[in-house]
Amino acid sequence: MQPIFKASMQTSLRLLMFTVVGTAALAFTFNITHDKIAASEEAEKLNLIKQIVPQEKFDNQIMQDTLSISADPLLGNSNPTTAYRGRLQGQPSMLVMEAIAPDGYSGKIRFIMALQYDGTISGVRVVKHKETPGLGDYIDAAKSDWIKGFNGISLTNRSDKDWKVKKDGGQFDYMTGATISPRAMIKAVHKASQYYVQHRDELFAQQTVTPSKE
Ligand SMILES: Cc1cc2nc3c(=O)[nH]c(=O)nc-3n(C[C@H](O)[C@H](O)[C@H](O)COP(=O)(O)O)c2cc1C
Repeated sequence: MQPIFKASMQTSLRLLMFTVVGTAALAFTFNITHDKIAASEEAEKLNLIKQIVPQEKFDNQIMQDTLSISADPLLGNSNPTTAYRGRLQGQPSMLVMEAIAPDGYSGKIRFIMALQYDGTISGVRVVKHKETPGLGDYIDAAKSDWIKGFNGISLTNRSDKDWKVKKDGGQFDYMTGATISPRAMIKAVHKASQYYVQHRDELFAQQTVTPSKE
């Protein structure tokens, strides 16, 4: 074998080896961190669910009474999500579901909301957002109580025109200089409430499914 050919073969083999080892290391790190991130997001979601579902409103294993909800324009999502059903003495009493406000200042705001059977909101919590710290992030319960303004609201006790910030003629508070984030949330919670009322009976009738990892 010519020395020059041998040298270039060795260099190519070394490069190939580095590429294979490097790619394997990257894939390994991605798998580990991806699973950890998914597990911590799930734990955070469970913590938020506990905050918005009153203990006295259910006596079943709410975290096990799950169903998969298909993507729907009223929920702002493009993938199925898991919902949790509460029952009291065998009767449907609560539903916790996920939805997305697509038009936050910095894109999508993911949230969960708990509704009583009659459609009254018992709580909303932002799960993930990229709104500006100190400006639009007051929609996050960790930063302010603004989100608690949804408690007790329903399509029955608020008309369509009420689902706006006060500045736009509606009933919801806002912080001057940051109305894009609350507008996005109010619009999305309104739509998700409409989804619930339209689908309530089928949601409670569906078979339980085991939540899948996304
Ligand atoms: C860098 C920057 C970041 C901003 N981030 C947000 C935000 O996260 N949420 C929000 O509602 N408005 C944010 N704003 C302000 C909006 O652009 C807009 O001016 C404001 O929401 C309108 O509020 P107003 O109706 O009280 O005037 C930001 C503005 C700037 C310049």
